[in-house]
Amino acid sequence: MEKLVLTGPTPLKGEVSISGAKNAAVAILPATLLIDGICTIENLPNISDVKLSCEILESLGAKITWNTKHSITIDTSNIITTKAPLDLTSKFRASYYIIGSMLSRKGDIEVGMPGGCKLGARPIDQHIKGFEALGANVIVENGKIKAKAKKLIGTHIYMDIVSVGATINVMLASVLAEGTTTIDNAAKEPHIVDVANFLNTMGADIRGAGTDVIKINGVKKLNGNSTYSVVPDQIEAGTFMLAAVASKGDLYIKNCITKHLESITAKIIEVGGNVEDYGDSIHVWCDKRPNKANIKTLPYPGFPTDLQPQMGVVLSLANGTSIINESIWDSRFQYTEELNKMGAKITAQGKTAFFEGVKKLSGAPVYSSDLRAGAALIIAGVCAEGTTDIYNLEHIDRGYENIEEKFRNIGANIKRVNE
Ligand code: EPU
Repeated sequence: MEKLVLTGPTPLKGEVSISGAKNAAVAILPATLLIDGICTIENLPNISDVKLSCEILESLGAKITWNTKHSITIDTSNIITTKAPLDLTSKFRASYYIIGSMLSRKGDIEVGMPGGCKLGARPIDQHIKGFEALGANVIVENGKIKAKAKKLIGTHIYMDIVSVGATINVMLASVLAEGTTTIDNAAKEPHIVDVANFLNTMGADIRGAGTDVIKINGVKKLNGNSTYSVVPDQIEAGTFMLAAVASKGDLYIKNCITKHLESITAKIIEVGGNVEDYGDSIHVWCDKRPNKANIKTLPYPGFPTDLQPQMGVVLSLANGTSIINESIWDSRFQYTEELNKMGAKITAQGKTAFFEGVKKLSGAPVYSSDLRAGAALIIAGVCAEGTTDIYNLEHIDRGYENIEEKFRNIGANIKRVNE
């Protein structure tokens, strides 16, 4: 079994470069199924969720050539089956994007129920509602989702909940539909804009992505024949920003879009950290114990749930008591039990947690319950006195490229050990 071993405390100092966004990449890859031809995708993060997405595409008939470890050329001219392998699709969340893409391209698809981080109930009713409104017939049975449509016809879809996944999936299903589809109450995350930009580069006609009303004018075909570069990862950038604050460090975070980081910047300033914004890079430093602050996670442009655990480490070390209210996921406080093993004083009740700040954390063996919990535990291990062993690395490897190397390059004493 692999574990990460960290010895601290260490103030993180230096430069770190941000990889392509996981949550954009895992949607853009299935979106290539809409293309009857070839395209090249660059700035792909080298993470296990991307490799899994590529394996699923290959099983459907796509031909993938790796140009570098961050760039692929993919030929989706020849789709040979409408049944995606159940064992692969049920391993991660974003496999549900195969449904929107294949419904649009082939009018038929069967996939396993999506897996992914265990963050509480993760229904897909809004995805299904969108597909059905476009004219598809969707059946969920025996751990499988089967969707079929003779023809998809554009319509008006109001999302009852702001959902990243449902917005992207309905967008994918509408690209080749007849007429115009309007998605109302759409999610506005940077990766939604990135997927729309990718599809438009390949020949789609999508307008309004990044606002809460997206209009998709159906086109007959996507020709591809273009190159697209995935947007930098907002959450990875935010993870390093918060690592700089928690460790009382000083980091230059390169290759990010600082506009996507405004809610994090605002909270860092509120807790007493410093931020210099250069548009495509950001300098974050903190030379004192952070102040307390209250956080409520919200869809973009609110404070992202995917940075809540990392912010939790900052607040567990803050001066005073802070409150985090998690409004997206039911079970996003599992990491607090692990931080408490390291000396934090956190009481989590349902979707609210109280962080009574402590002066220091101490190393302990801890278990990562999900991807962002894993990132938070690495930050905690950097800040803690003594040795922290982090287990369940498969979660972290799903979404962060070269995480230990990136942390090591900015001063962390971190190594991966095979026990
Ligand atoms: N929801 C429904 N019905 C639906 C869809 C969603 O009730 O049909 C609810 C969810 O239960 C949740 C809320 O709506 O309470 C928002 O869920 P959303 O659909 O936005 O989440 P998702 O698409 O499943 C993506 C990211 C998550 C991130 C959330 C929120 C991907 C692959 N995953 O999930 O990322 O937490 O958006 O921003 O894009 C991560 O990267 O660590 C991660 C978990």
